[in-house]
Amino acid sequence: MNKWTFPTQIYAGPDSLIRLTEFNNESILIICDPFLKDSSNLTYVISLMEGKNKISTYTEVVPDPPITHVVKGIQYMEGIKPTIIIAIGGGSCIDMSKGIAYFGRKLKHMDIKSFIAIPTTSGTGSEVTSFAVLTDSETQVKYPLLDDAVLPDEALLTPLFVKTSPPNITAYSGMDVLVHALEAYVATAANNFTDALAQQAIELVFEYLPKCYKPTATDQDRMSMHEASCLAGLSFNKAGVGLVHAMAHQLGGQFHVPHGLANSMLLPYVIAFNCSHNPDVAKKYARLAAKLGFVSHNASEEDKLGSLLKAIIKLQRTLKCPMTLTDFGVDKATSEIKLNLMTDRALEDMCYRFNPYPANHDDIIGLYKNVL
Ligand SMILES: NC(=O)c1ccc[n+]([C@@H]2O[C@H](COP(=O)([O-])OP(=O)(O)OC[C@H]3O[C@@H](n4cnc5c(N)ncnc54)[C@H](O)[C@@H]3O)[C@@H](O)[C@H]2O)c1
Ligand SMILES: [Fe+2]
Repeated sequence: MNKWTFPTQIYAGPDSLIRLTEFNNESILIICDPFLKDSSNLTYVISLMEGKNKISTYTEVVPDPPITHVVKGIQYMEGIKPTIIIAIGGGSCIDMSKGIAYFGRKLKHMDIKSFIAIPTTSGTGSEVTSFAVLTDSETQVKYPLLDDAVLPDEALLTPLFVKTSPPNITAYSGMDVLVHALEAYVATAANNFTDALAQQAIELVFEYLPKCYKPTATDQDRMSMHEASCLAGLSFNKAGVGLVHAMAHQLGGQFHVPHGLANSMLLPYVIAFNCSHNPDVAKKYARLAAKLGFVSHNASEEDKLGSLLKAIIKLQRTLKCPMTLTDFGVDKATSEIKLNLMTDRALEDMCYRFNPYPANHDDIIGLYKNVL
């Protein structure tokens, strides 16, 4: 039996920030990405609530948020006693805020009426997921924590903040959306509902990500990618992701490869690997390639899979994504030393469990070797 809900209330559209004008007499903590510090966008957000609420802002956010930053945020929050928490930023900011809101509610018994996420990247889908990815700085391990209690109560999707995203961040976070949807599509917990969400997200990414990468991107293009990100988040939150994510977390932990870029590097190899070991996966991806119009419905399964891989690689090239760790600036000798360690940790990563084929140690070493 499948039982699931979408508990996060989603407000989508250029006017979604109007929701913030509804608060009165609240203590509001805005946890925001440092790129917004002193910006007119942040001033605008504050102007929607100030006068009738007490507002504090906290900007101690870094990419791949370490657990120690969550602890510092909790200490800051204790002095504020917020009744509303608003996270505005990329996945790192939202994940860190999830940790802060979670501990505020569970450990400190704070009466936080609403935890609101406003994503500024079209990437992680974190605004609607039960995941928070935190890093142990001492061991360099990224831990995806899974608990419905970290789900934001509300998500506001507006193109306003994503507009300042530089091309490389648009590219990498956009590739993360594609990987969420393509992995969810064949993950062990996938079903017809999650497939529908994933398929729509994939279609939107292929159409709108190249447009968002260009300086001519319109608000409509940005909004479509933002919705793709949210759809993919809703899909993988139920279906799971897979080996690409389990392996990519190690590239992020060891070499600080941006999350979406690490996923992008591994994606074609893991798809080919999963297809060659699980005929149902091959069939499903082949059907998808034809549905997306990459190839005729009458083509062979092999041609259909080839067309999907070709479309992915074309997109990576359009977005100027480095294809290997060497391209990213990590020399081969350095990455080779970490191969065994990364493989052991990928096998322990919770995303591995949702991969449609149980890759073994040697398989994963072989897959990593493609991207050194
Ligand atoms: N919780 C989940 O469900 C989930 C899913 C996938 C990934 N993640 C995690 O999320 C993190 C990655 O998040 P991300 O890809 O959104 O990147 P990010 O949040 O790490 O941001 C990357 C950089 O972009 C900047 N930035 C963000 N938005 C910007 C904008 N609009 N304009 C200018 N600069 C901007 C940030 O300040 C930062 O320097 C990783 O830690 C990853 O593991 C979480
Ligand atoms: Fe991801």
